[in-house]
Amino acid sequence: MASITASLSTNLTGSIKIAGDKSISHRSIILGALSIGETTVDGLLESQDILATISAMQAFGVEIEKKADNKWHINGLGVGGLDEPKKVLDLGNSGTGVRLLLGVAAGNPITSFFSGDESLSSRPMARVLKPLEMMGASFTSRMGGLLPISCTGPQTLQPIDYSLPVASAQVKSAILLAGLNTPGKTIVREPTPTRDHTERMLKQFGSEISIETDDESQNIITLKGESELTGQDIVVPGDPSSAAFPMVAGILAEDSRIEIKNVGINPLRFGLFEILNEMGAKTELIQKHDGVGEPIADIVVKTSKLKGVTVPASIAPRMIDEYPILAVAAACASGTTRMFGLQELRVKESDRLAAMANGLKACGVTVEETSDSLTVHGSGGQIEGGARIQTQLDHRIAMSFLTLGLKAKNPISIDNGTTINTSFPGFVETMKSLGANLNFSDR
Ligand code: S3P
Repeated sequence: MASITASLSTNLTGSIKIAGDKSISHRSIILGALSIGETTVDGLLESQDILATISAMQAFGVEIEKKADNKWHINGLGVGGLDEPKKVLDLGNSGTGVRLLLGVAAGNPITSFFSGDESLSSRPMARVLKPLEMMGASFTSRMGGLLPISCTGPQTLQPIDYSLPVASAQVKSAILLAGLNTPGKTIVREPTPTRDHTERMLKQFGSEISIETDDESQNIITLKGESELTGQDIVVPGDPSSAAFPMVAGILAEDSRIEIKNVGINPLRFGLFEILNEMGAKTELIQKHDGVGEPIADIVVKTSKLKGVTVPASIAPRMIDEYPILAVAAACASGTTRMFGLQELRVKESDRLAAMANGLKACGVTVEETSDSLTVHGSGGQIEGGARIQTQLDHRIAMSFLTLGLKAKNPISIDNGTTINTSFPGFVETMKSLGANLNFSDR
């Protein structure tokens, strides 16, 4: 369990390519597997989470391999065509993997068994089990809807009309993926729009899906079941949630200018960028273009003086994974940053609200935490540091505190660097190529 230490760094410069988008990578494998014909995926994120989804899909009988052209090739079995896996499907640390695959499994008349690591085994699954049960699937789980879980799909799954009780792209996607194999229209109503990669990609793969917005700005997504998906050639853009770390590092470190190439800038993923701009960050989007169904750009950031802002609850679904790194930016700003509507952070890979509050306090930052909000009193750039952070199997907590360490008077270390491979293999090397002082040790 390699620990990593980050020390004060200045003059971060260079141009980097960021790892492929995690959400789009999961969906490329899954939709490829449910299609007729071959899907190729270029730029797939080869992180532990995605490898777990690949291995689960292979256990469902799908042929998936990386070929000499450096692309992943998937030979789909079609909607409803999966084999019953002969082994337990271990999704490791991946909430997206397990929740989306529960939706997929429910749409096949087979029994499958799901497990995960310690972090995933304490995360709520009832939010997907409940709508899938309404569709006719049956599950056995630990008390409270926790992994391990067994899933049995019925002969014919029924479509439902479901209002999401939590803003969650994973729940929305699980229902839509199950809905692919129902005789009728599956409707998902989302009170606040969440990332729409599933909808965009389902359209691209040829399914009949429409999205309307009602008078109360609620999205109504309607999917017609039992239509075939056709294999596609996918090019995965860089992950904005991974780009967030070098982006904030370049804004905080003195005398820095960083260019991050080919990043997805889907507006439903890009709340952090808006908030950083409001805080006074010097940023620019260049080379804007459309990739396969997604807007893409290069991001340029320069050293900037940040000021505290209020971050309303309404933006949370558009930057749900970026609060840890925003809290780091807020700690280095002048003035106070107040973030609201953070209850979902309690059930991520760790309780991210508590992890950020405790870690920042250990680094000498004044913070206040409530059940669903975080207030960070900015230090104006004077971070004491000197702490060792418990990452609790949470990749984003790990990368956030390493980013803070680049700005701290005393080095900050994290206990477990391997967790970063969940979403951003090569993080340390990428940051070092920009001039960041990051070092591994065996402690
Ligand atoms: C994801 C949705 C979000 C996000 C996760 C990826 C997805 O989770 O936090 O990292 O790919 O659908 P929720 O649906 O739980 O908000």
